[in-house]
Amino acid sequence: MLMVQVDPFLAATAAACLLLHLLLRHLIGNRRPSRLPLPPGPRGFPLLGALPWIGPQSHAGLARLASRYGPIMYLKMGTSGCVVASDAGAARAFLKAHDVKFANRPDVVSARDVTYHRQNMVFADYGPKWKLLRKLCSLHLLGGKALGDWADVRAAEFGHMVRSIGRDAAEGRPVVLPEILVCALANIVGRIVVSKRVFEEQGEESNQYKEMIVELLTGGGMFNIGDCVPALAWMDLQGIQRKLRRVHARFDSLVTRLLEEHEASKEERKERPDFIDAVMANRRGDNDGETISDANVKGIIFDLFTAGTDTSAIIVEWALAEMLKNPVILRRLQLEIDSVVGRDRLVCESDLSKLPYLHAVCKEALRLHPSTPLGLPHFSFDACEVEGYYIPPNTRLLVNIWAIGRDPRAWDHPHEFEPERFLAGGRASGIDPQGNDFELIPFGAGRRICAGKMAGMVFVHYMMGLLVHAFDWRLPKGEELDMGEKFGLALPKVVPLKALPTARLPRSAYV
Ligand code: HEM
Repeated sequence: MLMVQVDPFLAATAAACLLLHLLLRHLIGNRRPSRLPLPPGPRGFPLLGALPWIGPQSHAGLARLASRYGPIMYLKMGTSGCVVASDAGAARAFLKAHDVKFANRPDVVSARDVTYHRQNMVFADYGPKWKLLRKLCSLHLLGGKALGDWADVRAAEFGHMVRSIGRDAAEGRPVVLPEILVCALANIVGRIVVSKRVFEEQGEESNQYKEMIVELLTGGGMFNIGDCVPALAWMDLQGIQRKLRRVHARFDSLVTRLLEEHEASKEERKERPDFIDAVMANRRGDNDGETISDANVKGIIFDLFTAGTDTSAIIVEWALAEMLKNPVILRRLQLEIDSVVGRDRLVCESDLSKLPYLHAVCKEALRLHPSTPLGLPHFSFDACEVEGYYIPPNTRLLVNIWAIGRDPRAWDHPHEFEPERFLAGGRASGIDPQGNDFELIPFGAGRRICAGKMAGMVFVHYMMGLLVHAFDWRLPKGEELDMGEKFGLALPKVVPLKALPTARLPRSAYV
């Protein structure tokens, strides 16, 4: 018979927590200050509550539970409670009608170390520090004017990317799409934020960076037992924190190096200050007494490199994978771009607004494969009533963006990749992903909507347009397309897309 060795300390702690759990439930379990019911949800297990029902593919697990319990579900997980919105109406109720209440972030164990103890923007509570960081980002980096100011950087870096793929094409070498996309995006973010290309070429170093981001986003997205039962957090039973701390140490040394070089070269940037110059100029000053610490500076750099690179690359990777599955869409898109741009130069940013089918393809990829399937968690300190349900204080909110994009009541053939639905005359032609149409909210909605949504849209359209116009794509001989998803804060393909490019423009167009 197989004997399992149980750590006596772990067993004693688990037993103590179980007793405490049962005692608290007995004492206060049914005493709620409201007559309204909690939203429906599965009965949980002792200690871990509903956690075991969710499974490793949490977006799909939660969607399965929602099909049984409804679009507003309440899950008790250990000592914490979580409400999940799984259709457009539910998302609208939380992110529009009750937006302010849910505009905080939970103090997630996995995020603490990597975000300099929530000194960044992404995990900051809704308050003056968050407002200041968001304002600086909008003014100097991600708002309409700032985006226009940095157009030359995007053109230069995406130009490098196309030429690098051109060299692979000439030598018949397949390209691992996400690696090359993330390298280009990290260089753009690096140049705008700290005036530095972070990688000379795509290779070992940039691939390690990409792996680092994937590990951060995968670990950051997992449900951590320590969040459900804080008394057990120090044990790190799933080993998530250990892994994240290791990656964070590497990331921190990259950021420290970038900041040191930045400080040493500040005289060179008098003519064209970058984002960190703008942040440094606002560290103390006329910001309602709000100051920016060293940890805030590092935190915001962390945000921009993590939230600003993989998210856009994932959309382009999935869109291209869908087009390899369905080459008719690829041809139609190439024809559209040829007719507007011609065949003797590369696509440039000013072409993008004239390409409706390109927009439709990108929207369809954002619908079917949103880069952050459950968005980022929201949090309400106060109790409230939503759609006739009582939501207790200190409840976490998850919006299942992935399930909303595949809701059969909102979308025809929800699992098919059909960009035509977004063209004029199509059933979804009026739907826009920028946070007003709740059937399609890949960037979230409300006050905490993605701070980089405009940049994200430009990145996705521009990369997609360039890749499809400049190259034909096919799978390497003998390889099959694996469309499996890898769940985390982000949702990349399990098997990164590897494809063989062939140049389709004259040589002079690539120079
Ligand atoms: C296609 C690309 C992108 C997608 C799909 C995406 C999606 C999202 C989503 C779903 C959220 C959470 C919204 C919520 O809490 O309800 C978010 C937050 C955020 N994103 Fe993006 N994002 C993208 C690109 C970018 C880019 C390019 C940047 C910056 C360079 C960026 C920076 C941020 C930041 C800073 C936040 C946190 C906002 C806050 O907490 O106030 N994102 N994003």
